[in-house]
Amino acid sequence: MKYGYFDDRNREYVITQPDTPLPWINYLGCQAYFGIISNTAGGYSFYRDARLRRLTRYRYNNAPFDLGGRYVYLRDTESGQFWSPSWQPTRREFENYSCRHGMGYTVISSTANGIEAHTRYFVPLDENLEVWQLTVTNRRQTKARISAFSSIEFCLWDAQDDATNFQRNFSTGQVEVEEGVIYHKTEYRERRDHFAYFACSEPLAGFDTQRDAFLGRYRGWDSPAAVEAGQLTNSIAHGWAPIGAHQVTLDLKPGETRQIVFLLGYHENPVNQKFDPPGSQTINKALVKPTIAKYLDPLEADAAFERLRQYWDGLLGIFQVNTPDIHTNRMVNIWNAYQCMATFNMSRSASFYESGIGRGLGFRDSNQDLLGFVHMAPARARERILDLAATQLPTGGAYHQYQPLTKRGNNDIGGGFNDDPHWLIVGVAAYLKETGDWGILDEPVPFENEPGSEQPLYEHLRRSFQYTLDRLGPHGLPLIGRADWNDCLNLNCFSDTPGQSFQTTTSKDGKVAESVFIAGLFVLAAKELAAIAARRNLNADAKQCLAEAAKMARVVYEHGWDGEWFVRAYDDFGKPIGSKVCDEGKIFIESQGICIMAGIGLQDGKASQALESVNKHLATRHGIVLQQPAYSKYYLHLGEISSYPPGYKENAGIFCHNNPWIIIAETMVGNGDRAFDYYTRINPSAREKIGHLHRCEPYVFAQMIAGKDAPTHGEAKNSWLTGTAAWTYYAATQWIMGIRAEYDGLRIDPVIPAKWKGFTVTRRFRGNTYLIEVKNPKGKQRGVKRLLVDGKDIATNLLPVCPSPPEPIQVEAVLEG
Ligand code: BGC
Ligand code: NOJ
Repeated sequence: MKYGYFDDRNREYVITQPDTPLPWINYLGCQAYFGIISNTAGGYSFYRDARLRRLTRYRYNNAPFDLGGRYVYLRDTESGQFWSPSWQPTRREFENYSCRHGMGYTVISSTANGIEAHTRYFVPLDENLEVWQLTVTNRRQTKARISAFSSIEFCLWDAQDDATNFQRNFSTGQVEVEEGVIYHKTEYRERRDHFAYFACSEPLAGFDTQRDAFLGRYRGWDSPAAVEAGQLTNSIAHGWAPIGAHQVTLDLKPGETRQIVFLLGYHENPVNQKFDPPGSQTINKALVKPTIAKYLDPLEADAAFERLRQYWDGLLGIFQVNTPDIHTNRMVNIWNAYQCMATFNMSRSASFYESGIGRGLGFRDSNQDLLGFVHMAPARARERILDLAATQLPTGGAYHQYQPLTKRGNNDIGGGFNDDPHWLIVGVAAYLKETGDWGILDEPVPFENEPGSEQPLYEHLRRSFQYTLDRLGPHGLPLIGRADWNDCLNLNCFSDTPGQSFQTTTSKDGKVAESVFIAGLFVLAAKELAAIAARRNLNADAKQCLAEAAKMARVVYEHGWDGEWFVRAYDDFGKPIGSKVCDEGKIFIESQGICIMAGIGLQDGKASQALESVNKHLATRHGIVLQQPAYSKYYLHLGEISSYPPGYKENAGIFCHNNPWIIIAETMVGNGDRAFDYYTRINPSAREKIGHLHRCEPYVFAQMIAGKDAPTHGEAKNSWLTGTAAWTYYAATQWIMGIRAEYDGLRIDPVIPAKWKGFTVTRRFRGNTYLIEVKNPKGKQRGVKRLLVDGKDIATNLLPVCPSPPEPIQVEAVLEG
């Protein structure tokens, strides 16, 4: 069953009924000011950091799931009936409803009682504010007198404190109201120099800033007393719960339309210009007023919206594809690329499954996210790489997370996840391949943000590499530390205390448990580092990297090959995990994916054999599960993985993130049919038709789909913020379509289903635009060996970097087998 449809031309997903199985969300903003918005206008906003600079309040794990947001109410003065045109929170019957989620904006439309309303929500580029454009049309035969109300609930900035510290916070809330603009200024009197504002383009019939005055005692957002009464009370919040609400009266002739613009924004004043007059406690509004005036003008708001559209035209235009498969096309051309932007911006911090309080930006996560993002905004990728590297420790280790506002490593989680450092190499390699900006390697970057400790970025990569060599275990495999990519394989934790964090508890000295996954990742990263060193003429470094990679690959053959697949790890007792000798968890996906991506087993058939084992033991029609058999009970020596009931999350769920590793591995052994089949199994667009089972948004990947051991096999969870976004984008574009950025040019090496007759791609790369046509007349899965470039045969499938000609370059590639 479907709950909407894709409008590919407008790059929108149109939801046609408000009660989707779960809230289906979108992101507003893509630079510094962000919002989350659901299909019923639920969600919240923040500036840079969802934890430390939260603008509006949101109560997670609520009933209903999604409550609290950017709610508008309409009230018919004659009948006294009122409703919210976004359906929530009043949930009245509608004559029609739609929610269009687009690139950085959402439009919610409905008609009730003959009154049609559209609200367009978006964040203008380069501004720290969001615009709500509410258009109301009278579809009745008679005149209508309507009151329109806006509403938001302010958060007292620190979302964690806001949700817990009531003894203080019920006394600190402060607002000002001036010329119809509501200013939220809690703590502005002391150490904050920022405030929020909520403005309206029309003359007000009233406002409210105190929640109780607006809602009334014992009432909720579904029936605010002041809306029901048809008159806001002009309340001024002192402590308790500051909100913002405006009231505008509209007299509408039949067929008449009126537009109201609401702005919710964030502003920082220079410390010495906080107050006006100086010495008073009144906010100096002089610096923000021009911005407010500008965007309250509907024409300016429209122009800003147009700029946003053009911005996305530009970003998405960098890679456009036309294949025989509509699901591939819309994911690659629109939604998967868009999701990559969201994961780049948010890492895993703020979604409807990540509370914005729990997590900062992950070191490994953010580095991997670059794979899907780097071609769209290389300058921002560069900045991110330098920020991440600056949190690296002198040992080469890494803080597992950092806070985006402070850009400092997050001490709560600390480090010791022994895979982390290598992802920096992978991220930098992706950046270099895309941009050719070799200068980044010379950028001085501190360790642990310590001034004076700066070393060239290249030295950071060297230390990442060395980190593993300094931490080898009894078999010569890398020690796992707190965990590797699989945060839930906690081999040094041994926790029997409820509530203890599996990721930060260590009961063992960590000198025994080893990771075959890290071994594979090390080989992959060492080969990248060798390629980088060679291009800088650091031949001794390059040689060392290759020698260590080869040595590690030998160790993997010796101790990491189980006969039919790669072992996963060794536990604290030196016993294998992910081996046929285990009772449960005999085979894991991660080591198959990473070892093959690192090139291990490609020469002697082991890679193909491992992939057959994946197909036999792990593949389901909903995707590939993480391991089998699922752990049926809690194992003290394995940790969190066995804390999940079978079939969920890391315990044999379909952890979508590493499905693309297998997809890539399949392309490496030339199996285009199977690679594409696996891709389609988790492709949300292809799953749209089973929306009642899948339940999450059909336009973005979810982190997990319940595995075959779960009663809800096929149900997705944790949509949006997942490494799946970058990895599937990378797998589809660079490995299935095979349009692959390399250090010295653009490789054209598709590995596609035999039945595809061909496809075309437009790719902007290093200043050139390539119009690539791939032909497959003989029904092959792989085999481009030479290219026709503007009609000339270049006898290789690597497009060399060349000066940008004024015209796009025509490239023709034929699969010859
Ligand atoms: C989840 C992992 C996640 C980790 C982060 C665990 O509970 O299962 O997917 O990486 O938390 O700390
Ligand atoms: C989600 C985390 O964000 C990621 O870092 C980790 O690799 C996976 N879970 C697997 O545990």
